[in-house]
Amino acid sequence: MTEQREKIAVLGIGKLGICFALNLERSGYDVVGVDVDENYVQAINSKTLKSYEPGVERYLQNSTHFKATTNINEAIDAETALVFIMVATPSLPDGSYNHAQIEHVAERLMQFGKQQFKKHIIIGCTTMPGYCDTLAALLAPYNYTVSYNPEFIAQGNIIHDQQYPDQVLIGEADKETGDKIVEVYKKMCLNQPVYCRMNRLSAEICKLATNCFLTMKISFANSMGDFAIRAGADPDKILSAIGSDSRIGSKYIRYGFGFGGPCFSRDNRALALSGKQHGMDLHLSYATDVVNKQHLDFQFKQYMEQYPSDEVISFDHVSYKKGSVILEESQQLALALRLAREGRKVLIKDVPAVVGAVKKLYGDLFLYEESKD
Ligand SMILES: NC(=O)c1ccc[n+]([C@@H]2O[C@H](COP(=O)([O-])OP(=O)(O)OC[C@H]3O[C@@H](n4cnc5c(N)ncnc54)[C@H](O)[C@@H]3O)[C@@H](O)[C@H]2O)c1
Repeated sequence: MTEQREKIAVLGIGKLGICFALNLERSGYDVVGVDVDENYVQAINSKTLKSYEPGVERYLQNSTHFKATTNINEAIDAETALVFIMVATPSLPDGSYNHAQIEHVAERLMQFGKQQFKKHIIIGCTTMPGYCDTLAALLAPYNYTVSYNPEFIAQGNIIHDQQYPDQVLIGEADKETGDKIVEVYKKMCLNQPVYCRMNRLSAEICKLATNCFLTMKISFANSMGDFAIRAGADPDKILSAIGSDSRIGSKYIRYGFGFGGPCFSRDNRALALSGKQHGMDLHLSYATDVVNKQHLDFQFKQYMEQYPSDEVISFDHVSYKKGSVILEESQQLALALRLAREGRKVLIKDVPAVVGAVKKLYGDLFLYEESKD
């Protein structure tokens, strides 16, 4: 007897979406992923896709019920009750998110006309607080519900983080839809996460606020570390003691580079903007950002003072986080750049993809060495 798998559509199978789709497939779903990039879709279907994200190539090789397509009609049919949307929401200059890709998908969904049976749209993208309510009002006449279900994952660990989340945040359209989302995660997670169920707006704020708190911890640790160094004290001993207090916890309470990457900085700015739109100054969001920049200034001065001018200053990675290939808002790269532009010899060691990307951007400004990890 052939097994009957429930069908789920994932619209947008980029860095986040492909991991989610593969995790769904592993959990027993029949998954159709939709993307606009034809070459990418072809590489997925021929199982020749090369990915730096651990597990993606292996899960893809082992998958039997996952296919990718550029044709949304193959993903949305009478059998599809759950549709996850994971397209990109890049930041606009004012710090807000650009929802254009979601809107494009929503237009396609509306073109299918009113659904005979309710379909549940679940937004996994990061959105501005209030956006999902607007989208829900737009799609309701077509018999779609809209829920918000963002992910707390780190690049370089996405597959694992989706399998072992601390919490699953669900901004549910209604209880029935929320129950369906919980059911998916109960199949997908290999741990027992806390299910945090609330309305869409609360979940949108919660997503940004969580990242704001994490960045606040990082900025706090770095500013206390900078202060300790300036005063002649020991930053590591101080932070280790602070982190030993169970009310605080040791995660992110250590001295190092500032925060960067594709989520932290922009979620923090989006939260500040959302506060402003509601007539509130969320000072901690601003301060976190300011302290991150001050920390870079402090590190720059430290390096300039500590390294003799003829010594090569070596960075063991310049991606925003070791193991990732992302350069976005990388504080390591920002520091390396400032030092090199000040005339210092700077050696960048990183994986070939990162070395290649930095070379393309900055050429002879740096010395380079390719590493395995
Ligand atoms: N990557 C992360 O670490 C991370 C973490 C948390 C949240 N997020 C959020 O998740 C969302 C997706 O992020 P990502 O990093 O995977 O982005 P991405 O750019 O890697 O992937 C988006 C994908 O959507 C595709 N796409 C664009 N328009 C489409 C359309 N009309 N139909 C179908 N596919 C379309 C693109 O071709 C691309 O492959 C964003 O909102 C992001 O803020 C990402």
